[in-house]
Amino acid sequence: MTRRAWILGLIPFLSACEGVQNAMGGQGAEGSRFITLFISFAVVCTIMYLLISGALIAALWRRRRPPHTVDERGHHRTSVVVTPALIGWMALVFVGLTALTVASFFTDRSNAADASKPALTIKMTANQWWWDVEYSPNDPSKTVRTANELHLPVGIPVHVKLQSNDVIHSFWVPNLAGKQDLIPGRMTDATLLPRKIGLYRGQCAEFCGVQHAQMALDVTVESLADFKRWYAAQLKPAAPPTTSLQSAGYNYVTTRECSSCHNIAGTPAGGQIAPDLTHFASRRSIAAGALPMNKGNLYGWIADPQSQKPGSKMPTVGLKSDELHSVVAYLETLK
Ligand code: CUA
Repeated sequence: MTRRAWILGLIPFLSACEGVQNAMGGQGAEGSRFITLFISFAVVCTIMYLLISGALIAALWRRRRPPHTVDERGHHRTSVVVTPALIGWMALVFVGLTALTVASFFTDRSNAADASKPALTIKMTANQWWWDVEYSPNDPSKTVRTANELHLPVGIPVHVKLQSNDVIHSFWVPNLAGKQDLIPGRMTDATLLPRKIGLYRGQCAEFCGVQHAQMALDVTVESLADFKRWYAAQLKPAAPPTTSLQSAGYNYVTTRECSSCHNIAGTPAGGQIAPDLTHFASRRSIAAGALPMNKGNLYGWIADPQSQKPGSKMPTVGLKSDELHSVVAYLETLK
């Protein structure tokens, strides 16, 4: 194999060390503790593995010597000899296992300490195949509802309550923290404490049906001031249409098929079973991370969602060309 081929072969592994979806990124408190724990386990286990391999090789080598001792009556006997090396080995195993147990214990305690003082509560409901997201669900005057995205203030612990509407899913933002399953009929919890501003990607981590791979989540970690600005904008109802094309789209979206599933605050569209669209155009992607948010993808998604994300619950409505233009024009105003 040439040197060039070796390097090309390593690219997939090296590329996993960077990026928006990376369990070794360590941009969250829990995530970075898990990395430290993982490295500790890897170091201790590697040392043990090398020592055992060395002992095995030495034993095979020494096998050439007569295996038994012969006592004064001429009987062959096998004896276990307690040598300093054996005592040292046992002590090493004891110290190694104890150190890893203690490290696990303190990692767990630190994670629990973060969870005990959340400043913000988010309720997330998993659906095939999208995420319903509600901020401050217990305070109706402050509740913000969005979908397939999380905005998090840096340095502030967030309590995430997780539930599922259909099958088992798993909530995972690899850069920030470990996985947590969402189980129908049960509420589970996760804590996120992001430490670094940036854009990350969450992904459902439990196979949940044909579009499991396209059940992603855009995560924006920002300063507290930016987060407050975003929150204030999200609290507002949708802006009214300003052009005649947008008005035609408004009329279609809020009175025809779309409104029976989607909610748009401040309009007659009050459906509750599909993603809330109040500030849809402010999101980074469409259909749970399936497509980047732009005009072309918006046309493609609304005209024929089943060709973009087969099996999705969004039906192909069969809009006429002028209806499609107006619907896209209106949806683009939902910033
Ligand atoms: Cu939801 Cu996989």
